[in-house]
Amino acid sequence: MEQYLSVKNINKFFGDFQALNNVSFDVKEGEFVCILGPSGCGKTTLLRVIAGLESQSEGLINQNNKDISLRGEQQRVALARALVTSPNLLLLDEPSAGLSPVAINEVFKTIKEINEKNVSILLVEQNAKRALKFSNRGYVLDQGRNAYQGEGVELLNDPRVVDLYLGKL
Ligand SMILES: Nc1ncnc2c1ncn2[C@@H]1O[C@H](COP(=O)(O)OP(=O)(O)OP(=O)(O)O)[C@@H](O)[C@H]1O
Ligand SMILES: [Mg+2]
Repeated sequence: MEQYLSVKNINKFFGDFQALNNVSFDVKEGEFVCILGPSGCGKTTLLRVIAGLESQSEGLINQNNKDISLRGEQQRVALARALVTSPNLLLLDEPSAGLSPVAINEVFKTIKEINEKNVSILLVEQNAKRALKFSNRGYVLDQGRNAYQGEGVELLNDPRVVDLYLGKL
């Protein structure tokens, strides 16, 4: 599979506070990747940086081999639009939040169906177990840093990951 989205050493500061610290990951074409981790670890900030809604302080983002580490406000808006409407990559931030168990199943089933049409998925989820079951790979963030990464099943079976980061299993 070809690399579709590549994020390298992203740093993001809000004033003095460092929300993202050298975060790197990639999503291959057609891959389903989830980003997990405790509340406040930087998941939403990471998605917002990728979508161009937030500027990163440092780092490189490549989509489809094009550098989209955004240079100016206009480009930022245009690229965010392009990314959001792109049929090739779907960015999802906690799509199951606040839903009933039945509705959550529906949401995950729909995301999987979209993914089966070769759309890459980058999913941020609190519902770690379900997210890892559906994903090809997962990344766990902790306090703005890459903590663990691996295939879904691998992460689900790693006691360090379960104890420290996944909580809600
Ligand atoms: N605009 C902002 N200004 C200042 N601090 C911010 C801003 N946005 C996020 N933060 C801080 O950055 C850190 C990461 O926040 P973020 O929302 O990315 O976490 P998260 O992993 O999505 O959390 P949750 O699981 O609760 O959604 C938090 O400490 C948050 O308070
Ligand atoms: Mg969030």
